[in-house]
Amino acid sequence: MRRKLIAGNWKMNGSLEANRLLLSGIKSDLGHPGCDVAVCVPAPYLAQCQTELAGTAIGWGAQDVSAHEAGAFTGEVSASMLRDFGCKYAIVGHSERRAYHGETDAFVARKAARAVDGGMIAIVCVGETLAEREQGETATVVARQIDAVLTALTNEQLARVVVAYEPVWAIGTGKTATPQMAQEVHAMLRARIGAKEAGIAERMAILYGGSMKPDNAAELLAMPDIDGGLIGGASLKASDFLGIVRAAS
Ligand code: 13P
Repeated sequence: MRRKLIAGNWKMNGSLEANRLLLSGIKSDLGHPGCDVAVCVPAPYLAQCQTELAGTAIGWGAQDVSAHEAGAFTGEVSASMLRDFGCKYAIVGHSERRAYHGETDAFVARKAARAVDGGMIAIVCVGETLAEREQGETATVVARQIDAVLTALTNEQLARVVVAYEPVWAIGTGKTATPQMAQEVHAMLRARIGAKEAGIAERMAILYGGSMKPDNAAELLAMPDIDGGLIGGASLKASDFLGIVRAAS
């Protein structure tokens, strides 16, 4: 059985004070979750997470990582810097980075390798746009996105990868993929990974992301190939985030 993971992606939200309230709300009601729990926060707040979350059941991570190791890359944050602040996870290839920062499949794969080599678990995001879905291209697009990672990484590296299927049209829109729609893509992704190595596919967590909320989480998480969630908006409210954690536990 794969252990489920519920990871919050705060995106560019938060402040020291707001984070303190949110984290203490999550900590106080978390109990002993039956799944892995993490928050992926803006880089400046990683130190705060290290202080507030060390020794708790909540892991933390970054929302991106540089594809480079070190050097003259103004504004970039390296994997080793993220590890200095205790990051367990790094999201790579979020659709917002692909869309607004021109990140290509190959570049995302390099970042995934960098995160893993730096000692973190890479959460690799894939997903189609509305236009791509309407043109019947969902399978082609997500296959292309996952193949870039499967080609660039060794099996050892892939053992430290989590995939997040996030249909772009479901992100922040309140429109969720139905459990059946999501399951279909998750199963396709797992088959694709399995073509490279069956054991890795069997063990790899494939999360769903896109308007996951406490009231739709249970039915999504009940699907055989949905191993958790990458949560945007609902991760900014302790009670909503905890509602999803409970649905996964
Ligand atoms: P929402 O949960 O706000 O739709 O965001 C999903 C997401 O992009 C998580 O990475």
